[in-house]
Amino acid sequence: MGRIRKVVFPIAGLGTRMLPATKVLPKEMLPVVDKPVVQYAVEEAAAAGCELFVFVTGRGKALIEDHFDRAFELFETLRRKQREEDLGELERAIPAAGSLVYTRQQAPLGLGHAVWCARHIVGDEPFAVVLVDDLIHARVPCLKQLVDAHAETGANIVAVMEVPKEHTDRYGIVVPGRERGRLVEIEGFVEKPKPEEAPSRLAVVGRYVLSGRIFELLAKTKPGSGGEIQLTDAMAALLEEQPFFGLRFEGRRFDCGDRLGYLEAVIAFALERPELAAGLHAALRRFL
Ligand code: UTP
Repeated sequence: MGRIRKVVFPIAGLGTRMLPATKVLPKEMLPVVDKPVVQYAVEEAAAAGCELFVFVTGRGKALIEDHFDRAFELFETLRRKQREEDLGELERAIPAAGSLVYTRQQAPLGLGHAVWCARHIVGDEPFAVVLVDDLIHARVPCLKQLVDAHAETGANIVAVMEVPKEHTDRYGIVVPGRERGRLVEIEGFVEKPKPEEAPSRLAVVGRYVLSGRIFELLAKTKPGSGGEIQLTDAMAALLEEQPFFGLRFEGRRFDCGDRLGYLEAVIAFALERPELAAGLHAALRRFL
């Protein structure tokens, strides 16, 4: 019980909140300091023990495949120039051959539909879903926290956090039940409720450990909020059959699909880097 081998990254969204940067460049390739957002997500999943990385892509996302491939001319040049450290870092960023899988969501019908596109690759076993936009800075990688909670409970687990009341209509919101340490029993989900209708301020953020049963439920899920097939609606059906917990994860989440969230992420991650922190502090003081 507990081993999560496969992770799904749904990256077929259009990223319209970050236009014009994302007209050609996939939003998952935007750099936070010097690393594309998608690389943080893959590193987090690897640290949680995942071995198969499944990308549900769309048109214009081929750069992501290139990013996780060897770049022969670049690698050779770095080797010739004896830049072993740079070379080593690039090498380490590439998962083992055969552990990356790409499939296309042929139309952006919603997050639930994107996850469903991975059904034949994942099969009938518990698996993880990571929304790449949600960059989480944590001592223990957030997905590892979820995988550990799954190992302990055998249940479906989603990452949850408190959001301001006026923001409930941006998230899937949880109907909370009993609390057990950082775990909250989930009694229901509501997708993007208006603040006055929200059952709580506890929002689902982009980390999930779900049983393979979700695929059968997604197949029956009708379009919901925004006319899209919502993962939240299928999770609400799964909840009727299997235990489901929210994990109040330890860490700080940045929404890199949003301009302000992205800028905050760049600053927070840069301030963590010893070689940048002092210079950035000084620059920020000059601006403010
Ligand atoms: P978002 O709500 O962030 O949508 O999707 P988006 O289209 O990517 O971005 P904006 O709002 O236009 O700026 C949440 C996650 O679900 C994926 C997205 O790639 C993102 O990781 N998604 C969404 C799909 O893979 N397919 C879809 O049809 C919709």
